[in-house]
Formats: sequence, structure tokens, C-alpha cells
Amino acid sequence: MNSLSLIATALCCVVVVFGGLPFSSNAQLSPDFYAKTCPQLQSIVFQILEKVSKTDSRMPASIIRLHFHDCFVQGCDASVLLNKTSTIASEQDAGPNINSLRRLDVINQIKTEVEKVCPNKVSCADILTLAAGVSSVLSGGPGWIVPLGRRDSLTANQSLANRNLPGPSSSLDQLKSSFAAQGLNTVDLVALSGAHTLGRARCLFILDRLYDFDNTGKPDPTLDPTYLKQLQKQCPQNGPGNNVVNFDPTTPDKFDKNYYNNLQGKKGLLQSDQELFSTPGADTISIVNNFGNNQNVFFQNFINSMIKMGNIGVLTGKKGEIRKQCNFVNKKSSELDLASVTSESMEGDMVSSI
Ligand code: HEM
Repeated sequence: MNSLSLIATALCCVVVVFGGLPFSSNAQLSPDFYAKTCPQLQSIVFQILEKVSKTDSRMPASIIRLHFHDCFVQGCDASVLLNKTSTIASEQDAGPNINSLRRLDVINQIKTEVEKVCPNKVSCADILTLAAGVSSVLSGGPGWIVPLGRRDSLTANQSLANRNLPGPSSSLDQLKSSFAAQGLNTVDLVALSGAHTLGRARCLFILDRLYDFDNTGKPDPTLDPTYLKQLQKQCPQNGPGNNVVNFDPTTPDKFDKNYYNNLQGKKGLLQSDQELFSTPGADTISIVNNFGNNQNVFFQNFINSMIKMGNIGVLTGKKGEIRKQCNFVNKKSSELDLASVTSESMEGDMVSSI
């Protein structure tokens, strides 16, 4: 099946399964935003991701996570893509991101192709949002029509990344308040956590669960004993912690409802995952059961919550900018003038580049 027909099939399924456009959109975003200025956008995004996914089956997971880590830190504004410079403390160096984020190069690849056909029109924030949606489709998950019109930030915020992104040992209360701070509710928390049906995590995030949970000297009692043994093999006690483990032991690269069935079977990989099902009396248990019993219900909720997450703190209108290169803010013309004057007048001296 070629890429366009695959997009059409995915969109058609959204309509068939859910009977219409399922988005509760931010009023300023619109699926038609680039209809006139960059009609080729969707197919460029799809074609590049489809190609890369053939050699990197983990790529869709990494892109979906990148979008999440963008949106939770000053909104979906591509701030996560900004590299470290003399004026920017990169979010990529924040605790939850360092040595962890993957495939930013794929977003750059898309941006380069998009700039060739529609220069200065399409934001990196929209490319990342679209790429997350296509990544869901490529891994067998739902497709949806993505509201567009975000602009790119002029800043990044590393300390906010450290504060806002939830950690793997979070309690249910901590997870709920981290999501609530972004305007996301408990159903959003459970639906979006379903992305952990894809991808991998490093052992260092679960070593405590495997060997010394809460300083008890024993494993986490909410772990299934057979699964515990498998994980202990993959993550030796005194190992460096850099081995990676699949979130879903059975279909690691397929977007399905297995995440919830794993939680029901005490096979959640992170403590934060298992909290959704094993916290006594929690209101999340029935949501996990609901999604675990019916994949269509999970998919529909995942779509709603991804669109909601994609609306967080967006810059529209004249705010922010359309970056030329996703890893750097554009130079202001005044700075360019200054740079050329400085380089002429200070011959031989280095002109600092942003
Ligand atoms: C609920 C709180 C969450 C916590 C505590 C959490 C934590 C983590 C951690 C620790 C990893 C492994 C990172 C590494 O090994 O370097 C990870 C991976 C991942 N996360 Fe989350 N996450 C959460 C929510 C989400 C959400 C909302 C999404 C997307 C909608 C998401 C998507 C992913 C994906 C797809 C991966 C695998 C990435 C890859 O293989 O490259 N996570 N997460």
C-alpha cells in the first residue's frame, strides 16, 4: 500500500470507528492551516517516517515521546528541539531527557524536505505533532486529523523540563498532579500512558523495583514473579543500567491495548505504570480495565487525549516564529547586522554563533 492510501485508510478508519472528526480543538488551530501554503506537508511527513521506520522499529515510540516531552514544557512549541547555545540551556540536557531522547534527526530531515517546497511556512512544532500522529498509524495505532497552526518558541526551559516531566517512580497522586498542571485529567493520564505499549526503557529506571524496592532489600511485590525473573536477567543487579527493556514484552513495536493487559497481569514495566492498576482503591483501575477490554475505546480516548495534549500552551498568530532550522531560533535581522559589523570591525576575532 502506498503512503497516501495508507493515510487515507487511517483517516477513513477514524471516521468509520468514531463517526466524525473527533477533535475538541483549540479555536486557533485548524487541520486546514497549511492547505494553501503547504499542501504537500502531510505526505512528506508520512513518507520520511515510513522510510525510517523500516530500519528503526523503535522510531515511532521515540517520536511520540518527543512530542509529549515538548508539550509538557511551556507548551507544544518545539522548545525541546532547541540545542544548547550561549543563550539557550537546552531541555535536551534536563534529567528526563539526557541520553534518552531519540530521533530528533528525523524531525530535522522532515523540516529540510518541507523547507524545499514550502520555505518559511511550517513550524517545527507542527511537524513534531504531525509526526507523532503518523507514528501512531505506522505502528498500528489510530490515526486522526491533526489541528495545525502552532508556532515555534524563541526560548527553551531546562528547569521547567526537570520540574514538569513525571518520573518513573512517581506515585499515582504525583502523576495526577503532573497531568493536572497541564490541564489533563485522570482519563487523559491513563489513555496517554498507553503509549507505553511501544518502545523501550533503560534498566536504571527499574533496578530498585527488581532488587531493593523502597529500601526493603526485596523486589516490588506488585511485579509478577515470572516477569520479575525475566527482567532480572535483562537487568543485572550491578550492571551499568544502560541495557534497554521493552515496555511490552509480547508486541514491543505494535500500538495495541496490551499495555493495559500487562498492568492487569502485574507486568507494568515502570513503577509509575503499575501504580495505575495496583494503587489500592484507585479510580484509575476501572479505566485500565475498560481500555484493557476494548481496544476501540482505548484508541478513541488516546486520540482525544493526544489532541488535548497537542493543544497545550500553543503559540499562534504573531507569537514565536517559524524556525528555519528546528534546533536553533532564527537570528533577528538586527543580530545579523550586528554580527556582520562585528566581524568586519574585529577582523580575526571569532563572532559567536547562536
Ligand atoms: C505518566 C507518566 C510517564 C512517565 C513517568 C514516563 C516515563 C518514561 C520513562 C522513564 C521512559 C524510558 C526512558 C529511557 O529509558 O531513557 C519512557 C519511555 C517512553 N515514554 Fe513515557 N512516561 C510517561 C508518560 C508518557 C506519555 C504521556 C507518553 C506519550 C503520550 C509516553 C511515551 C513514551 C514512549 C513511547 C517511550 C519509549 C520511547 C523509546 O523507546 O524511545 N510516556 N517514559
